Amino acid sequence: MSYSKYKRIFEKEQKPFAYLDKDLLDKNISEIIQRSGNKKIRIASKSIRCKWALEYLLDQSKQIQGVMCFTAQEAAWLAEEGLDDLLVAYPTYSEKDIECIFPALRKGKTIYLMADLDEHLSQLQSCAEKENITIPICLDMDMTTTFPGIYFGVYRSSVKDVKTADRFFQKLRQCPNLRLGALMGYEAQIAGVGDNAKGKAAMNFIIRMLKKKSIHTIATRRKAIYDLALEYGFKPEVVNGGGTGSLETTREEECVTEVTVGSGFYASHLFDNYQVFKHLPAAGYAIEIVRKPHENIYTCLGGGYVASGTFGKDKVPQPHFPTGCELVDNEMAGEVQTPIIYQGNEELRLGDPIFMRHSKAGELCEHFQHLLVISEGAIIDRVPTYRGDGKCFL
Ligand SMILES: Cc1ncc(COP(=O)(O)O)c(C=O)c1O
Repeated sequence: MSYSKYKRIFEKEQKPFAYLDKDLLDKNISEIIQRSGNKKIRIASKSIRCKWALEYLLDQSKQIQGVMCFTAQEAAWLAEEGLDDLLVAYPTYSEKDIECIFPALRKGKTIYLMADLDEHLSQLQSCAEKENITIPICLDMDMTTTFPGIYFGVYRSSVKDVKTADRFFQKLRQCPNLRLGALMGYEAQIAGVGDNAKGKAAMNFIIRMLKKKSIHTIATRRKAIYDLALEYGFKPEVVNGGGTGSLETTREEECVTEVTVGSGFYASHLFDNYQVFKHLPAAGYAIEIVRKPHENIYTCLGGGYVASGTFGKDKVPQPHFPTGCELVDNEMAGEVQTPIIYQGNEELRLGDPIFMRHSKAGELCEHFQHLLVISEGAIIDRVPTYRGDGKCFL
């Protein structure tokens, strides 16, 4: 694809708009299926945030099965909309949020709620008991690895080893309305940390080394906790692991039944910097040139969709087309205007689009009500994002 082709496809569209290039998405899907080996793939909805896209992905292959949701309200809504096998990957504590999934459970849908603390179990048990219902739960296993002076991972679960898992299982045994349906361990330090950033050879080397040293520990811990669950007589049907950046290693673990993938489908630019894979930029947005304050500077309306998490240049959107566009260092992507430096051969005029990529896949959809779906050089659909469906879960 090129600037002129994208420009022509969208020439009648009001800017700003977000788009999904289905041809590139299809290539990403094939590659992700290959990268996942023989494991099932659960879709991380936080990195998609568009019901049409979730359904499209689920339809592409039997290997893609189930959704990893980010809130119980989201899971309840997706269940109402006809989806099933929904795993809420972060704890749900408020009674209202826990109870919102009960109608779906009563209809026979599967929605797992996450837990790792006694308090989670007590709260889930108390809500389930009141309504005389059984909640399938998922234990979140911490997959952090530590090295002298380095906490390599994220602050997530309190279940960090067999000993803490044992305490959790003992408590779980006393909760008659909870069923251990799933185990999940997310090795964020492998899956979500790039190891091939441009101009950062020393850092890449260190990260690759830490990743390599972590893989065995992660696999051993996941298996040990899984074995303990079996010893307790639990029969979790799901053992989930990984993310877009860790498929090559997570798939090698025998006890793992499924891997999670979200970001790799749209391939936001944070996922450009991995050594072992490169997906295609399937989603993006366009902003309109409305000023030309200086030679080679084209200022666009809006565009400042900066991603969450630690702040840094990697969280700022990147100009995509025309090739060679750059942000201005001391303005970057702004709330109401974004100046672009361009010295290439395209003739840019007021009203022309600049195509941008978000750093994080799903957050793009929080800024737009629709995705324009394109294929073979034409717009083929206009589908609502979660926002377009009137949903704002987080
Ligand atoms: C629990 C969990 N699993 C998997 C993922 C991977 O998602 P993605 O493929 O979008 O990086 C995430 C992302 O944060 C996560 O929180």
